[in-house]
Amino acid sequence: MCGIVGYLGEKNTKQILLDGLKELEYRGYDSAGIAVLQNGEFSNYKAIGKLINLEKKTKDFVTEGFAVGIGHTRWATHGKPTELNAHPHLGESSYIVHNGIIENYAQLKKELISDGVTFLSQTDTEVIVHQFEKNLKTQKNAFKAFEKTINELDGAYAILLTTKSEEDTIFFAKHGSPMLVGINSEYEKFFASSDTPLIEHATQVNYFEDGDYGFVNSKEISIFDKDAKKKKAIFTNLSQNKLSAQKDGFRFFMEKEIYEQSDVIADTLMGRLSDDEVIFDEFDKSLFDDGINEIKLCACGTSYHSALSASYLFERYSKIRTSVEIASEFRYREPIMCKDTLFIVISQSGETADTLETLKMAKKAGLKTLVICNVDNSSMVRLADATILTRAGIEKGVASTKAFATQVTIFWMLSLYIAKLRDSLKNEEIIRQISLLREVPASVKVTDEMHEKLKRLSKRYLHGHGFFFIGRDIFFPLALEGALKLKEISYLHAEGYPSGEMKHGPIALADPELFTIALLPEHLHYEKSKSNVEELSARDSTICAISSQEFDKADDFIRISKCKDYMLEFFEMMVVVQLLSLEISVRLGNDVDMPRNLAKSVTVE
Ligand code: G6P
Repeated sequence: MCGIVGYLGEKNTKQILLDGLKELEYRGYDSAGIAVLQNGEFSNYKAIGKLINLEKKTKDFVTEGFAVGIGHTRWATHGKPTELNAHPHLGESSYIVHNGIIENYAQLKKELISDGVTFLSQTDTEVIVHQFEKNLKTQKNAFKAFEKTINELDGAYAILLTTKSEEDTIFFAKHGSPMLVGINSEYEKFFASSDTPLIEHATQVNYFEDGDYGFVNSKEISIFDKDAKKKKAIFTNLSQNKLSAQKDGFRFFMEKEIYEQSDVIADTLMGRLSDDEVIFDEFDKSLFDDGINEIKLCACGTSYHSALSASYLFERYSKIRTSVEIASEFRYREPIMCKDTLFIVISQSGETADTLETLKMAKKAGLKTLVICNVDNSSMVRLADATILTRAGIEKGVASTKAFATQVTIFWMLSLYIAKLRDSLKNEEIIRQISLLREVPASVKVTDEMHEKLKRLSKRYLHGHGFFFIGRDIFFPLALEGALKLKEISYLHAEGYPSGEMKHGPIALADPELFTIALLPEHLHYEKSKSNVEELSARDSTICAISSQEFDKADDFIRISKCKDYMLEFFEMMVVVQLLSLEISVRLGNDVDMPRNLAKSVTVE
């Protein structure tokens, strides 16, 4: 996801900004830029692709003496990854960098255009700098104009702004996206969206809280809270360990990514929900009309499991025939492809060779295509007719977690979007489901209590001759995903199975050394799932039940909260199976982030 750096001081501003952006590279980006204000003049450079391109462009640019500078790595959300869309964005005499999404940008943009402002980019960010300059004309100083601008924004942001009207100052604001300021004994000031760029420069940092805004210059740091009250910065010492900073203090990237799910799902939802409809600006609704009678989903690995989840939602809510295929199978089985089918591929990376090949096949057969992907400008995004970006940010752990969570979120939204088009759900039901969707970020928040419980429990599940993760309906794909997580990082044998199918064979394996992880949602086929688990319990299988409902036939019980709907139970249970796998792997001493024999992106057949 996007990264921000800022610097105010007398050292080599250009190099400090470029080095800082380099430290944020691991988060993923598709363009980068810097703007430096020195002796009353701005210098601005932008480049698409890797930072090396920006370095080449700035080769002859020299900064000496006092300057203020801001820099950004962009992960496209509004508008393609082009130089014009790259940050920093220019008004008339100010530059801005921004992470997050401004939800009311369209309205602000409309007003600014009617005031005669010309926009250069397709981004939501550009409205902020123009709005600031509009306010500059009526407010008594740059700070007041900035304060007014912040109050006019809806959505999430971390913002840095520099302006000729106050040359020695950086204005900042934070709401929903991370940002910190660092200091040292040399009166320099550093900003960044995470710790790493500040290491070896700043000795102490203040992490801004939501609602904080203000300004810094060489003499002072002025912070105001959401009620416009001045507050004191709280500085803590900055650890100088880079790897641990990248992991934000977590032991593994996978653990960090599980904890991040709440934030990235909020990003996935942002700007895409109104009270009674789901909005996808990225394609025209005709993608789903014009004689589309069926949806075919194609993917590999974890993405295949999210596709399976989608098939339940599409048939249940959108009332459209849906089938799901494993990409490597689909390629060679001479499938029949009809033009009334919308072909959807799902891929975290957008590069998986098998999935990419199925997309090419569908295009060749003249089908309409859509990709659900986490990486803009990836091969699949470039090829498909339409794209929905999941906005999960870069995922480093080979075992996918937050990518899956955002894919399922997109599918839930898409099922409601199609339902509205096809009139297959009552409006009240769409409104209800949208309000449930808004609860997902909270439902995937990891609590200390839950994590501690799973850490303790994990020690009982390190041996045995196998695991069965079982569930019904949409909890079957979740069972498959739970089993995949476990085998990927623990190397223990695990299978996902539909609960009702256990009696048709696998139950022969039941004994105390067979571990059954049973997904028992209160709001979906509870009684039926429960009797399937009882059948296993009667045959002495060791049962670990995950439910909000007390279940006395289980050896171990993991209680999730009481939810309003089975989809919220789905997301809570997803976190449980991810963390359980993680803790088992940790106890076994495995390499959690880079498990043996696996690759993050499989670009070969
Ligand atoms: C590899 C990874 C899996 C991933 C699968 C599909 O096998 O190890 O974690 O689910 O590829 O990747 P994609 O990028 O297409 O979602």
